[in-house]
Amino acid sequence: MKQVKLHDKVFEESISAEQIQAALDRLGEQINQDMVDENVTFLAVLNGSFMVAADLMKRIRFNSLITFVKVASYSGLSSTGRIQQLIGLDANISGQTVVIIEDIIDSGQTIEKICDLLKKQQPKRIVIATLLYKPQAYVKDIPIDYIGLEIPNDFVVGYGLDYDGYGRNLDAIYTLKS
Ligand code: IMP
Ligand code: MG
Repeated sequence: MKQVKLHDKVFEESISAEQIQAALDRLGEQINQDMVDENVTFLAVLNGSFMVAADLMKRIRFNSLITFVKVASYSGLSSTGRIQQLIGLDANISGQTVVIIEDIIDSGQTIEKICDLLKKQQPKRIVIATLLYKPQAYVKDIPIDYIGLEIPNDFVVGYGLDYDGYGRNLDAIYTLKS
């Protein structure tokens, strides 16, 4: 069993590089079939989704745009506390079909916030594509349109996902050993 140690924790391979690529084949094929005659802007959410975005985009066969954003949260002066904003959204997405590319959807908090922020720019519609999805952790109502793989409610690293900054370079997914 392949293992990696990051900081103080040991992770064990749970999804192979081949399984990831096969899941991306399916995702790419579905998106290619569904998105005919649409003006599509893919929107990759950094840092985690850089690998998914690169590998998924190689499978897209129609003309489309891609842009990259970060979700920044900071404690502002507002009484509401945590304020979140999208950094780097320089593309005009008004009237576009926006396909959000995510590495993982856990509670759904992040994706819900991103959708709210994007809606202000009046896209035609917002579609969500994620490599990994934790159904047992998801507490939101927004439907996830494209899911690569469903995984148990465990902490994972690799293929863009990190544990305290490390592990993003791994070509497979590794699960925290309990
Ligand atoms: P959510 O807002 O709870 O859906 O969490 C989404 C974000 O939390 C992801 O974009 C990741 O950055 C991080 N995250 C959630 N689960 C994991 C995990 O298992 N490993 C690494 N990062 C995770
Ligand atoms: Mg992420």
